[in-house]
Amino acid sequence: MKFFIDTANLEQIKEAEALGVLDGVTTNPSLMAKEGITGQENIIQHYLDICAIVDGPVSAEVISTDFEGMIREGEVLAALHPNIVVKIPMIHDGIKALRYFSNKGIKTNCTLVFSAGQALLAAKAGATYVSPFVGRLDDVSTDGMELIEQIRLIYDNYMYDTQILAASVRHTMHIIKCAEAGSDVMTGPLSAILGLLKHPLTDIGLEKFLADYKKGNS
Ligand code: E4P
Repeated sequence: MKFFIDTANLEQIKEAEALGVLDGVTTNPSLMAKEGITGQENIIQHYLDICAIVDGPVSAEVISTDFEGMIREGEVLAALHPNIVVKIPMIHDGIKALRYFSNKGIKTNCTLVFSAGQALLAAKAGATYVSPFVGRLDDVSTDGMELIEQIRLIYDNYMYDTQILAASVRHTMHIIKCAEAGSDVMTGPLSAILGLLKHPLTDIGLEKFLADYKKGNS
């Protein structure tokens, strides 16, 4: 399973990259705003900064909701760097935009997906990635992971090329469950990725190994 980091924070992206397990980055307008990145020029520069840190897919989201606007914005974003993936919302004109970019060989990430039907449409429209939001489904008492399993089954039934990018991953257990469900990619915060390495028995075991080494070598 590929690991993407879901942030626009350059320090966190650098830390995940330095760990050697990072495959890509996802951003959205809220994550950009959280880092204080506003204005088209700054946003574009920020995408370039991210692409300079990580050699992998970087999702850049359009803010238009009409077909022409999404095409205009998406073409500008895609021309910025070969690793840019144009992030398109799951709406009526978004489906048309996914098909347009797919026909042009431009990579897309269909975002704000909350149902199997939406994921099926995204695959039919040729999306490179589909982003079901597991955490936000959990927030409204619906099992987000069940959606990942459902989409996996549907995509496998028809051998769709669209990759399942489990988004809105909030914690370490989500990552484990995504891997069990066969998600192609998960995108989450650095804290969730770092949580994977923690186990008290590892710490206790290491402490003992080091203490025994000291005893034998003193
Ligand atoms: C997906 O790409 C989104 O950026 C993101 O995963 C949303 O996560 P949230 O629900 O924690 O805001």
